[in-house]
Parts: sequence; C-alpha cells; structure tokens
Amino acid sequence: MNVLSLFDGISCGRLALQEAGIKVDNYYASEIDGAAIGVSNNNFPDIIHLGDVSKISYKNGCLITENGIFDVGQIDLLIGGSPCQSFSKRGNQKSFDDSRGKLIYEFERILRETSAPYFLLENVVMNKAHQDVISRLFGVEPLEINSALVTAQNRLRLYWTNIEGVEIPSDSGVMLQDVLENGYTERDKAYCITATYSNATAQNYFINKERQLKFKHPVKKTGNRYILYDGTIVDIYPAHGLERNYYSLQLLKPYMSKLSCEEVERLQGIPVGYTAGVANHVRYKLLGNAWTVPVVSHILGYITEQK
Ligand SMILES: C[S@@+](CC[C@H](N)C(=O)[O-])C[C@H]1O[C@@H](n2cnc3c(N)ncnc32)[C@H](O)[C@@H]1O
Repeated sequence: MNVLSLFDGISCGRLALQEAGIKVDNYYASEIDGAAIGVSNNNFPDIIHLGDVSKISYKNGCLITENGIFDVGQIDLLIGGSPCQSFSKRGNQKSFDDSRGKLIYEFERILRETSAPYFLLENVVMNKAHQDVISRLFGVEPLEINSALVTAQNRLRLYWTNIEGVEIPSDSGVMLQDVLENGYTERDKAYCITATYSNATAQNYFINKERQLKFKHPVKKTGNRYILYDGTIVDIYPAHGLERNYYSLQLLKPYMSKLSCEEVERLQGIPVGYTAGVANHVRYKLLGNAWTVPVVSHILGYITEQK
C-alpha cells in the first residue's frame, strides 16, 4: 500500500507496518526535524521525504511539496502523531490557538484532499473539550491505550482511527526489569518517557556520595531481609536524617540511575540501536517523541483490505 506519514519523527509508523506484516509499496514522510529525518534515512533509505506538512497538497494523484512534485496515485493510509505540547496537561494547553496545536488541521486537510481510505491519528490524553473537537473533526471517538499493556512503560495515548474493530491489546506482562541491561528497579513499569526525559531526574531513588542507593519502596521483604528483583537477598536499613522515609542499600555493582538510550528503545518497542549515530540527548528527545511501536502495529494489524 501507499502510506503517507505526517509528523513522521523517526518513522515508527514504518516499523509498525513492518511488525504488522503490511506490505508497503511507497512510504512518504513529512517531517522537519533534521535529526529525526537522519535516523529515518539510516534505517529506511527508501522513504521519500516531503518536508513541511503545511507546504504539502495533493491534487490529481500528485503530492505537491517543498521537495518537489511526486506522482503517487492513491494514498491508502494516512498516519501521524501531531505535536502534543499544546494539548498535554503538562504543556501550555493553548490547544488549537498554538501553532503546533493547529497542525491537527493539516492532517484533516490532507485526509480530505487524498481521500485515504484509512487513517490513524495519535495524540496525548488531553482536556475532554479539546478531545471532543478532534473527535468531531474526524467523526470517530479515540481509543485510549496505555503502552504499559505491551511494554514496560506507562504512556497513555489517544488514537483516532477509522480502522474497524480495533480492540484494546491484552496485557503482555512485560515488566521494567525485563528491559534493563543491568541494575535493580523498585518499579514494575517506567514512568512515561517524554521528549524532555534527558533532563529528568528519578523521583523515587537517588545515589548518595557513599554510593548508597536510597529508595522509597523496598522490594519484597522476607524476615529482616529484602529480595531485589534479580533475586539477590540483601539487608536494607531505614535511612535517617534528611533521608528519612528512604531505605538504603550499599551498592556493590552499577545501579541504573537513568535508563540508557537502548533501554528507552526497548521501552518503545523500537529495535535496539535504531537511533544510534546521533548524540544521546538527541536520541532521548526523538525516542521521547516517538510512538510505542507495538501499540501502533496492533492497531494497524486490524486493516483488513490491503491495497
Ligand atoms: C510527536 S512527534 C511525532 C513522532 C513520531 N510519531 C515518531 O514515532 O517518531 C511530532 C513531530 O512533528 C514534527 N513536526 C512539527 N512541525 C512539523 C511540520 N510543520 N511539518 C512536518 N513535521 C512537523 C516534529 O518535528 C516532530 O518530530
């Protein structure tokens, strides 16, 4: 099928189609971030990049873009996760008054122009009034899916689609410990990884100068001892002073204080090393913006008629 991916980022849509076993004849991508386009090109050199979405139009089977005119014929699937900062409850909430929020209208315009038979639009969980505006625009209610069902990351997202019969995925039971390269965790699932993750600090634990791990929630207790997730039995003692309410463990081996880029790739269901080749802080940003691939491939897997 011919796929047009708007706000393509690092082309997780292409990965999801591959995972869903959907044959892609041509994949056209609209993206303006050079680093994201670089990662996309490194992994899928056949993707045709179209540039800025606001400069794309479709007429008589051609995509007219800032990168040239492409005779594409029919577009069978339109996908995209438009920038979420203006809808996010952590963002400015200016929604459609923000230039990034307005980009949803570009998705709607291109859907109208191409008459693509299938579409999938993703965004963050937002104020219900804003959500309803988008639902009216596309004539469907969104599915609300937490990535935690298919991977070890809490990431609640809305998916508007006209693909019929999509069910919420069942829980695959993947835990954070399953994706870590080394170290311990006191959590079952990572918190939502966002584009600002590279600046994030861990809230529930820290390592002090004496290389003691301080954490709020002890793992399983047995007698006076505690069992860590990898089965190691340790003595843990309550911390005092400023560190009251924390537990303390002397570190004998490296502890994961922040997820590595590869671990974040695994959390997003993206092949390990997919974003290699760019600086780590850029990788975190691109991965924080990206789709959780198994969620999107689950949805796309419901497409019945492949062109
Ligand atoms: C939420 S991210 C989408 C990430 C993507 N779903 C992925 O899996 O990597 C939104 C993307 O929209 C891109 N974007 C912002 N303005 C754009 C524009 N005018 N035209 C095309 N892409 C744009 C951003 O650079 C960003 O990569």
